[in-house]
Amino acid sequence: MAPNGSHIAHSTRVAIVGAGPAGLLLGQLLTVAGIDNIVIEQRGPDYVLGRIRAGILESVTVDALTRAGVDARLHAEGLVHHGIELSYNGSRHHIDFQALIGRSVTVYGQTEVTRDLMAARQASGMPIVYEAHDVSLHDFDTARPKVRYRKDGVTHEVACDYIAGCDGFHGVSRASVPETSKRIFERIYPFGWLGILSETPPVADELIYASHERGFALCSMRSKTRSRYYVQVPSCEKVEDWSDARFWDELRSRLDPEAAEALVTGASIEKSIAPLRSFVCEPMRFGRLFLAGDAAHIVPPTGAKGLNLAASDVLYLADGLIGLYQNDDARELDAYSEKCLRRVWKAERFSWWMTSLLHRFPDADDFAHRIQQAELDYLVGSEAACKSLAENYVGLPCE
Ligand code: APR
Ligand code: PHB
Repeated sequence: MAPNGSHIAHSTRVAIVGAGPAGLLLGQLLTVAGIDNIVIEQRGPDYVLGRIRAGILESVTVDALTRAGVDARLHAEGLVHHGIELSYNGSRHHIDFQALIGRSVTVYGQTEVTRDLMAARQASGMPIVYEAHDVSLHDFDTARPKVRYRKDGVTHEVACDYIAGCDGFHGVSRASVPETSKRIFERIYPFGWLGILSETPPVADELIYASHERGFALCSMRSKTRSRYYVQVPSCEKVEDWSDARFWDELRSRLDPEAAEALVTGASIEKSIAPLRSFVCEPMRFGRLFLAGDAAHIVPPTGAKGLNLAASDVLYLADGLIGLYQNDDARELDAYSEKCLRRVWKAERFSWWMTSLLHRFPDADDFAHRIQQAELDYLVGSEAACKSLAENYVGLPCE
């Protein structure tokens, strides 16, 4: 082992910062293609696995995981969903994706996706550094960028061809880009989602998205025996003020009578509040630094697009790097930011629209409420509008 204060030099093709789903999937796609890479993560594996996020996979994401060779459990345990239910004014309306556009989504938790990717990383024997402190990015405007970090008192420097910034919204990668080189687009919503996970059977076969005068609610699931539920709460709300009983009462009050009656309650395994935000950083490439996933953009969870956008960014990036290293062709890599952003903005629009359609906004007046009601009525009564929702929810095709 190197003595304290010493410096260890490494070299690789691609240094990946962050071991969330974006970083791990990119690492796996590059490894499968024979491109040398390292993943550098500031937290431990338990922290990464402890984060509970949405669990709806578009077919593009399932295909990416399949290409990465991490689809066995996903195919065995994932639940194929052919539609969703919209609930308002005491009744539920089925939006049948399969009948409308012949497509579906897969319900499989992001925690499980991450677990599968971690196992594949370990099996591949490729390097992954957990608990890397003071990660910093250098010289990405030159031909030989570097990533430095400290681990166990030793400073490491990884020289590479490219850096992939997959370190989420609060990461160091986007922050390393000068303010004058990037443009930020942002909308912060005046509410969050209070979510719980419970070992109880889901209230219905499909997910229920409920719009109610007390606020939005979502009934989701992780398996046939594990449920995930959310209620919209004001941004100032504290999770400590929400006992399980209070949560269940609030959720029940926002559901249609049939679902309220069928709801099975139980102790929560996890309970947390997530703020809602729309955010895009343009461009997504700065010299030899590429941003992917939450490092570049955030969507409110209403359309379940976060993980899927991370997967499509990573697919574009992996294909760009493969084009370069295998065929000496940089065209795909050079088109990365533009291609990603076209897809990102469509998902941003859809997520913003679903959020606006279903939530109660504190400053909305009576006119706004009537318009929201009319939009819901129009949607459930119009095949064209349902098709539009369906094609966005199951995921627009990758270019
Ligand atoms: N150095 C190294 N790693 C870092 C740093 C840093 N300075 N800052 C953050 N990280 C790590 C985090 O600890 C985390 O494990 O980067 C990882 C980023 O993972 P995610 O936040 O899950 O982001 P991403 O991989 O882009 O996944 C997108 O997550 O937020 C959801 O809805 C989103 O489902 C989508 C998915
Ligand atoms: C979830 O299961 O956590 C989930 C599902 C759908 C969403 C958001 C979250 O739109």
